[in-house]
Amino acid sequence: MKPAHARSRDKNRGRPAAPRPPVEKAEVSISRLGAQGEGIAELNGQPIYVRGGLPGETVRVTLLARRGDGWLARTDSVIASPSPDRVSPVCRHADRCGGCSLQHLSAEGQAALKTERVRRAMARAGLEAAPLRPILTSPPGSRRRASFAVRHTAHGIVIGFNEAAGSTVIDLAECPVSHPSLLALLPLLRQGLAPVLPPAGRCDAVATVTQNGIDLLLTDGPPLTLAAREALAELAETANLARLTWRSAGERFEEPLARRRPATVDLGGLEVEPPPGAFLQATPEGQAALIAAVLDSIPATATRVADLYAGCGTFTGPLARRGAAVHAVEALTAPLAALDRAARRGQVRVTTEERDLDSEPLPAALLKTFDAVVIDPPRAGARRQSEELAMSGVPLVVSISCDPETFARDARLLTEAGYRLDWVQPVDQFTFSGHVEVVARLTRPPLA
Ligand SMILES: C[S@@+](CC[C@H](N)C(=O)[O-])C[C@H]1O[C@@H](n2cnc3c(N)ncnc32)[C@H](O)[C@@H]1O
Repeated sequence: MKPAHARSRDKNRGRPAAPRPPVEKAEVSISRLGAQGEGIAELNGQPIYVRGGLPGETVRVTLLARRGDGWLARTDSVIASPSPDRVSPVCRHADRCGGCSLQHLSAEGQAALKTERVRRAMARAGLEAAPLRPILTSPPGSRRRASFAVRHTAHGIVIGFNEAAGSTVIDLAECPVSHPSLLALLPLLRQGLAPVLPPAGRCDAVATVTQNGIDLLLTDGPPLTLAAREALAELAETANLARLTWRSAGERFEEPLARRRPATVDLGGLEVEPPPGAFLQATPEGQAALIAAVLDSIPATATRVADLYAGCGTFTGPLARRGAAVHAVEALTAPLAALDRAARRGQVRVTTEERDLDSEPLPAALLKTFDAVVIDPPRAGARRQSEELAMSGVPLVVSISCDPETFARDARLLTEAGYRLDWVQPVDQFTFSGHVEVVARLTRPPLA
């Protein structure tokens, strides 16, 4: 007898076939919203993650695909007790597009959901006594960066986000969260990429709004032919791109195709030209809210500040502009080089250090030489670096995080070592999704 995985292979592609849901349709009751914005229900002891379902509602659903320990489902209709927070989605793609999961929830409902997520994470870590500030949100159409999937189909170039369940790309006609200039780019990409991608070809398009137009990075496409290069040069002109970069599938190195203007962004008064596709805060409003919280937390008298997981310097820039000497530490070479160039141009005091802070955290003995430390790790958090911070006695730590759970886990390491969590500020840059960021201040009196 063949092993189960061999039996369930999809003949056409040679990949294991996706597991089949136990039933196609069901009626379920939503108990709460999960972290990704899906309503959580139960069916025969298994969790069902229901797109479009809200707490308290009984909904008829179609089961779509395996999701973790349960099943992803789509709401077909609300059968009983519709939520008072239910609103009509604002976008025609809301049902299928994986970009948004909460268009059916009012703005107030989203704010409450995200605030509650932060509150629960804090409570689980025993940090519920710290004041939780009212959530700050970003307006519609403010997302300045999008990563679009591109497919060359029999009907031409399709460009948009993957559907929530499956790998079909939704050909985007509108998007309520993306900046209008990102949407204006799409028709030009449909035209401009047709001669670049072979039939059935694909790539990803990471587009960022900069001060001087769109910075476009095309990745995971085929190797470029001369004709494709010429077509891309034309695309850079017709779309009036600031910069265009290509990276073929499997390649580590990028090929700069056009740099028509510097693709600069303003990081708190410092003009930085990030490397193509570099991390930036998702909206200018979110970035401004986080910078304001950092600058409010750190007194202007703090002269030596460390910025850990610094990226291109979202926090280094404004702190250095205010006069501090900032030591920016980050694992990637390219963003640090961009920050270094900007700091030299802007004549501010910035030193940079390339370092993996997870495997080689900055030691406590060094941390204590700073007046304040800013830390902004990725979703997994910064457990080892936080252990060093906890031992350092540095008087002030400002913690920024895109994951309330790992934030709370790491903040707890500091409070156990005598730091006080002064406040936590939720910041929502991802309208219509379950994501939420936090910024928090931790202080401690000098060690004796
Ligand atoms: C959430 S981003 C924040 C970047 C920057 N603070 C900002 O706001 O633009 C996290 C940063 O941590 C960096 N990073 C990820 N893992 C790292 C590690 N192990 N050591 C140092 N930096 C790391 C990433 O490259 C990224 O720039």
